[in-house]
Amino acid sequence: MLSEAERQAYRRDGFLVVRDFAAAEACDRLVARSYELIDGFDPKSVSVFTTDEQTRTTDAYFLGSGDTVRFFFEAEALDREGKLQVPKRRAINKIGHALHDLDPAFAAFSRDPRLKSIAEDVGLGDARLLQSMVILKPPGIGGEVGAHQDATFLYTDPISVHGFWFALEDATLENGCMWALPGGHRLGLKRRFRRAGDGVVFEELDRAPLPLPPEGYVPLEAPKGTLVLLHGLLPHWSAANRSPQSRVAYSLHVIDGAAHYPADNWLRLGPHMPLRGF
Ligand code: FE2
Repeated sequence: MLSEAERQAYRRDGFLVVRDFAAAEACDRLVARSYELIDGFDPKSVSVFTTDEQTRTTDAYFLGSGDTVRFFFEAEALDREGKLQVPKRRAINKIGHALHDLDPAFAAFSRDPRLKSIAEDVGLGDARLLQSMVILKPPGIGGEVGAHQDATFLYTDPISVHGFWFALEDATLENGCMWALPGGHRLGLKRRFRRAGDGVVFEELDRAPLPLPPEGYVPLEAPKGTLVLLHGLLPHWSAANRSPQSRVAYSLHVIDGAAHYPADNWLRLGPHMPLRGF
């Protein structure tokens, strides 16, 4: 699927932007499906998701979302008492984390044979679909996602996670496109997010922090239909969305079934949900 030049660029930079991967209609269908799911969501349980404050805001609702489909609010969507300040469709930060297994529309999109080939191209010998989410970045309040490495959250030994990130709508500088640090996947893993007792902790693995954005990071503006391939160790972040345009993206994370998956990873799959390939 990927040319030799693309494979080289991915090895060098830790990311690869593939334009026009998905048809506009396919993107529209997933956006429409996302809002349908939100419409059917009864916001009884609330979990606000920001990467920076994950330890503080993590709760059982989040920790139990690995093998189901749950909804997480934008921090700015709720007032101090947890009351919604904006319409529900404009309030959701993300939907996760097993859409690729449980929702027919996302499952079909995620099991595109081209993705299987790309997974092989990047060296996944036994690719397994671990986690998926819709990231909505709603207009006006879509939160910043601080610089991080996906392997912090989706750890295997050896590290094997790769991200497939799809722009379901145009991602621009104005609405909070992703930024990546070229070559930053060679810096090693800085920290690991893991379970400890009933909660979770960030375990520091390297005292040198990730380079602080935006210095050295490049914006990955991505028209609708673009696939951005992300190495699990690549530092990336995205700004808040203060524009009137939403920035809906779908992200799918794939690991190697041959790598060890530790029992203290935050994401756990119940016995009803085997870790399946493409
Ligand atoms: Fe990420």
